[in-house]
Amino acid sequence: MSKAKVLQSVFCGFGLAGLLVVGAAGQDITPDASGLLARAGGVRLQVNALRDDVIRVRMWKGDARPEDASWAVIGHGKVPVTAEAKGFATKDLRISVDERLMLTVSDLQGNVLQKDAAPVAWEGNRFTVSKQRGFDDHFFGLGDKPGPLDRGGQAFTMWNTDSFGWQESTDPIYKSVPFFMDVNKGRTLGVFLDNTWRTSFDFGRADEKRYTFGSLDGPLDYYLMYGPEAKEVVKTWAWLTGPTPLPPMWALGFQQSRYSYFPESQLREVADRLRKDRIPSDVLWLDIDFQHKNWPFTVDEQGYPNFKGMVKDLADERFKLVVITDLHVAKQAGVGYAPYESGTAGDHFVKNPDGSTYVGVVWPGPAVFPDFTRKQTRQWWGTLYKGFVADGVAGFWNDMNEPAVFDGPGKTMPDTVQHRIDEPGFKPRTATHLEIHNVYGMENSRATFEGQLALRPNERPFVMTRASYAGGQRYATTWTGDNSATWNHLRMTVPQLVNLGLSGFSLAGADVGGFAGSPPADLLTKWLEISAFQPIDRDHSAKGTRMHEVWVDGPEQEAIRRRFIEERYKLMPYLYTVAEETSRDGVPFNRPLFLEFPRATADGSPYDLTTGGGEFMVGERLLVAPNPSPEEVAPYTIHLPPGTWYDYWTGEQTTRAGAVGTLDLEQRDKVIAQKPLLVTPKLEELPVYVRGGTILPIAPLTQNTAEVPNGPLTLRVYPLAAGLNTPGESCSGEVYADDGHSFDFKRGEFARVKFSCAVGADGGLTFEVAKQEGKWKPWWKEYRVEVVGWTPGKNEATFNGKGLKMTQVDGRWGVTVPANGAAGRVELR
Ligand code: GLC
Repeated sequence: MSKAKVLQSVFCGFGLAGLLVVGAAGQDITPDASGLLARAGGVRLQVNALRDDVIRVRMWKGDARPEDASWAVIGHGKVPVTAEAKGFATKDLRISVDERLMLTVSDLQGNVLQKDAAPVAWEGNRFTVSKQRGFDDHFFGLGDKPGPLDRGGQAFTMWNTDSFGWQESTDPIYKSVPFFMDVNKGRTLGVFLDNTWRTSFDFGRADEKRYTFGSLDGPLDYYLMYGPEAKEVVKTWAWLTGPTPLPPMWALGFQQSRYSYFPESQLREVADRLRKDRIPSDVLWLDIDFQHKNWPFTVDEQGYPNFKGMVKDLADERFKLVVITDLHVAKQAGVGYAPYESGTAGDHFVKNPDGSTYVGVVWPGPAVFPDFTRKQTRQWWGTLYKGFVADGVAGFWNDMNEPAVFDGPGKTMPDTVQHRIDEPGFKPRTATHLEIHNVYGMENSRATFEGQLALRPNERPFVMTRASYAGGQRYATTWTGDNSATWNHLRMTVPQLVNLGLSGFSLAGADVGGFAGSPPADLLTKWLEISAFQPIDRDHSAKGTRMHEVWVDGPEQEAIRRRFIEERYKLMPYLYTVAEETSRDGVPFNRPLFLEFPRATADGSPYDLTTGGGEFMVGERLLVAPNPSPEEVAPYTIHLPPGTWYDYWTGEQTTRAGAVGTLDLEQRDKVIAQKPLLVTPKLEELPVYVRGGTILPIAPLTQNTAEVPNGPLTLRVYPLAAGLNTPGESCSGEVYADDGHSFDFKRGEFARVKFSCAVGADGGLTFEVAKQEGKWKPWWKEYRVEVVGWTPGKNEATFNGKGLKMTQVDGRWGVTVPANGAAGRVELR
C-alpha cells in the first residue's frame, strides 16, 4: 500500500516547509475501461481518454473525489483504451504513470509530447504541476495576455483585472483563459487547466527546463488535446468548450464608438457624417453617459430626449445601435429604479459573509452586483433588456465585469464575498469570490446572451464582454480593453488578437486608434488599415482624448482610411464565410501562420517565429504583413511561407521556395532581394497577399451590410504557380451566405457554393461551380469569374458549353455568367 509522505522541500520555487510531495512508496494503478485510477501517498490520480486524442487528468488528496462540474466544458464522452503495464494507450496516444504519479504522454511512435518534470507539489490546497520544457517548445494561447506571440520564457497569472492603460508587460489583465498549446517540432499539444481560482502559468521563466501551471485552490483538473497539427488542437478546443457562434453580419462591419457621444445630437452628427462622407459602416455605440447618472438600463432624458425615435432614425440610415449595460446595479431604493428593486425583491445580489448585500462603488456610486452563477439570477438579468430590445437596440456591451470596483481591495470585490452556485450540473452551494471571480464576467455575458435569445428568439445576439473565462466565446465577442494610442499598441493588436483567437475568442477587436491618449493622424490611419483585416473593427476612444472619427484629420487621411474600410466591405463575402467556418469548427478569424502552414520550416518550428509574430492570416487565404516596427520608415522584410503568393492589391505573383529562416545566408540574401519581400513602408499601403490556389469571393462596394450589393459576385481566381501553365487541380474556394441576422440558416436557409478550377493541357482554365447547398437565395444573380495573372491564348470562353465574350477588367481576364444555384462550368482559353 502507498503511504503519505510529507517532505520538507525546496521544490519548484515554493521553498516552504509543509509542502506535500507525492510519496515514493510504490505504484497503485487500477485500470478502467477508459483510463486509470492511481494512487500514491494519499493522492489520487484519474486519467481518462475522452477521445483518442483528448485526455483528462484529475488529481486530489484524500478519498473524496471532488465535484465534477465545469463552467467551461460543454460535455464530452469517454472512449475505451488498452490497458498497459504502466498506463494505457488510445489509438493516438500512450500514457504512462510512475510510482510518484508522474505522467508521460507520447504519441504511438514514441515521441514524448509531455513529461512531468517533478511530482505535483501541494501546499495545502495549492498545487503546481511541472512539465519538462525544451528549447523546441513554443507556447501560444492564454487569452488576452499582452506580450510576444510565443509565451515561452514568460510567467502569467489569471485574475480578471480592470487594467486601464495596460502595457506590454502588464499581467494579469481582463480575461482568464487557462488554455495554451505547446508546439514542438510540428507536434502540438493543447493544455487546459479547468480551474477558476487564481491560477498561474510559467513557461520557463523560473526554470528554463520546466513549464509549470497551478492554482491557489480548487480542482487539479486538466485536459490534454493532441494535434499533431495546431489547427486540430484549435478544433478540439472548440469541441470541448464550444465555438464562437455565427454573429449577425453587421458585427463584421465598421463600428464607431466613443466614451461618450453626448448628447443625442452628437451621435446623430456622427451618423450623418459617416453616410455623407461615404465611410461604409454598420454600428454606433453608446457609452455610459447616455444613462441617467450612470445607472445601467436607464436613459438620460435630457441628453437623449427621444431615445426610441433616435434608434428608429438610425435604423432608417441603416445603423445598428449597441449600448453599454454594465453589471453594477445602482443602489437606489425607493426611486422606481427597476433593476435595483426587482433585483432586491428577487434576492439576486451577491452578499457579504454576514448575509448583508455587498455594496461597492463603481460608475453609478454605490452599487450592488448580480449573482450570475445562479440560473434564476441570469434569467432575471436577461429580462432587464426588455425595454432596450423593444426600442430596437441591436446589441449590448458588458463592461467592468472583472468585476471592477473602485473602492474594493485590488479594485475588485473582497475575496470573502459570497456567491451562490445554483446551476444545472453543479451541486448547489455557496462559494467565495476567490472561486467565482474569474468566471463572473463570463456568466454576466452569458446572462446577457441568453436574455437576448429569450427576448428575440430568432435573432443572433450580439454581446461584447471585457472579462471572461475559457468557453466565454459561446456568449460574447470581446475586445482588449483600455489600450493606448501608441504605435506599440497598434503592433500589439496582432499577437494579442491571434492568441485570443487560438484561445477560442475568434471574434475580438482592439479599440481602433487606442483608447487612452490621442493618436497622431498617421497612427490612426495605419490603425484603421490594419483593423480592416481584424475580426471586430471598432473605433473607440476615452473621454478627454481628441476625437477619433475617420474624417478628423482632413480629406487626405480620410481618403486612405475610407479605402481600407471599403476593402473590408468588398471582402465581406469572404469574411462572412470565414466567420461561418469559425462557428462550426472554431478555427479563428485571424490566425498565426503556423496554423495554416505547419510544415513551412525545415525543423517544424512555428513559422511565426521567422516573421516575428507580426504577420497574420485572415481565414486560410489572406496574409496581412504590417510593419513589425510600425513607426519606422526603413524598409522591412516580409516572410511568406513557401508556395505561390499574389499581392492582393496589384495581382503581382511571387513564388517562395522556402522559408527564409531555413536558408543559408547566400540564398537568404537572394530571397530577401526579391520584390516584394523587402518593402518600404508607406502610410497609404498595407501589404496583403493572397495564397495561390485561392478563389476569393468579392462583392460590389456597399455602404453597410444591409445594403444589397449591386452587381455580380466576383470570384477572383489566383491559380497555383504550377497550375498557371501546367495541367492539374489549381484552385478552390467557397462562399457562404444567409439572411445575415436570424437563425433560419439552421433550417436550411443558407447558401454555400463551392468552386474549383483546373488548368488544361492547352493552358486554358476550367472553372467549376458546384450545385449550391442550402435553399437561401443569395443577393448575387451573376458571377464574374476572373483570373489573376493569366492571359488567354485563344480568347475563347464558354459557359455550360455556350460561347460568350471574355472581357478584361482592371487587367484581369474573365467572364460574367448567370448564378442560379445550379452547377455550372466555365471554360476559358
Ligand atoms: C472602461 C471601458 C471603456 C469604456 C469606459 C466607460 O474603461 O474599458 O471601453 O469606454 O469604461 O464605460
